[in-house]
Amino acid sequence: MWELFYPGGTLDCLVPMRRTVVAELEKIVGKERMSTKTADLYVYGFDASIHHVTPDAVVRPASAQEVSEIVKLANRTKTPIVPRGAGTAMCGHTVPVKGGIILDMTLMNKIRKISVEDLYCVVEPGVIYDKLNAELGKKGFWFPATPGSGEACTIGGMVATNASGMRAIKYGATRDYVLGLEVVLPTGEIIHTGTRTLKNSSGYQLDRLMVGSEGTLGVITEVTMRYTVKPKASGMTVAAFNSLKDAGQCVSNIIAKPLLPSAIELMDSVCIKAVNKCMNIGLPDCEALCMIEVDGHPLAVDEEMVTVEEICRQSGAVSTEKSRDKKRIDEWTFARKAIMPSLSRYGEKFVSVALADDMSVPISKIPEAVVAFQNIAKKHGVIIGTYGHSADGNLHTKMLVEPYSKESWRAGEKAVGEIYDVVLGLGGTVTGEHGVSITKAPYMKKERADSLGAMKAIKKALDPKNIMNPGKMFDWEGSILYELRYPAFQEDKCAPPCGPSQPCDGEQ
Ligand code: MLT
Ligand code: ZN
Repeated sequence: MWELFYPGGTLDCLVPMRRTVVAELEKIVGKERMSTKTADLYVYGFDASIHHVTPDAVVRPASAQEVSEIVKLANRTKTPIVPRGAGTAMCGHTVPVKGGIILDMTLMNKIRKISVEDLYCVVEPGVIYDKLNAELGKKGFWFPATPGSGEACTIGGMVATNASGMRAIKYGATRDYVLGLEVVLPTGEIIHTGTRTLKNSSGYQLDRLMVGSEGTLGVITEVTMRYTVKPKASGMTVAAFNSLKDAGQCVSNIIAKPLLPSAIELMDSVCIKAVNKCMNIGLPDCEALCMIEVDGHPLAVDEEMVTVEEICRQSGAVSTEKSRDKKRIDEWTFARKAIMPSLSRYGEKFVSVALADDMSVPISKIPEAVVAFQNIAKKHGVIIGTYGHSADGNLHTKMLVEPYSKESWRAGEKAVGEIYDVVLGLGGTVTGEHGVSITKAPYMKKERADSLGAMKAIKKALDPKNIMNPGKMFDWEGSILYELRYPAFQEDKCAPPCGPSQPCDGEQ
């Protein structure tokens, strides 16, 4: 018989953890660096996604050795274990759908080495993106992946999701900067992948396998990464359009010129209205905006900004404003960053949620994609704000949902399915930068249908007991609306057919 140890949480759904496991965890890290308090467990059941499940324990390791001991314990007792950085993931990566241990990696937050002569640094996984860049910046360098959550997100989380942001068109994603990793495998064994050199062709590129593995193959305890030289200057052009399609076409026209911007952020009228209403920023009142950033040598920046403005006009822009002034650029960047929080105040009864919100399409398909999204939104009577890093084809479609209404969620879910069908039909992917976890799982399975078997074989070989972040990606069954953090489906939570938090036969 299981001895129920924890009050609170969804104990009717979760398989509770053994008291002995808790006692052993305490031996490894001490009382101060672990918790089983109801309030702590509740909080650690969230990330930035729409999901919530309460874990059984939270542990804060301070070294790879401690992580290894915790993972060995989890392996021996078949206890689920979920690594977590800042909890900024948008698809449920750190939500422990099968309960178990949350491994909070934020105490491992040291920059161990920056070697500017060799162009690499060595960092612990809990280092915050902006903090690393503050240090690199002192020496004239930067790691330009630019995730929207850069002030909070950790390098370990970025590696686990292959995170990126607005500058991927010119500078690539996290995977392009990872040279090597220290990883604790699901057996507790500590391995080192990659090198400290900028090139290696030495065997399987296991670091590439770990990048984007979302905590399902091991725990990242150290990252060796390259970085690049910070550009000397940058400039931004804001172009207003009376048609979202024209704005989308403008993106392709700039790239095809050829001209390589450092970013092109697209915003539709829903996003523009929301930001203007919420932040009182005074963006042009139009159907769509493109914010085009170029960077590099000051003379090149000036020349490229002239070309960009010309292309915008030729593509149908009704107004343009360009600036090299940092204050003006910061205002525009602030407006762009304000989209997500502002959307929740678009209308009284709505919250903005991450449903089908991170697809990528080939750049030339953006006009077709954005028009299709608008039509799907109309068909299902939902409001969608479309914006994103259009320069590399990555779009965010935030859906405005009435959180207490099942009908509203169901309409959103139908729209999501159709949006992803369009995206896949255009040769795109269901996620450009946020990852899969729960919210994208059914659609990723469609996208990767012919390689799922290979992925499952890798998972089985490395984690035969399925302890590492179980129930995610190809392991997720059922609707993306299970385990919602919102109250709409509360009474259905444990009714069949339930999501993966149903106890599994023979587990533990
Ligand atoms: C961003 O682009 O700011 C982030 O990816 C978060 C989002 O808005 O979805
Ligand atoms: Zn983004």
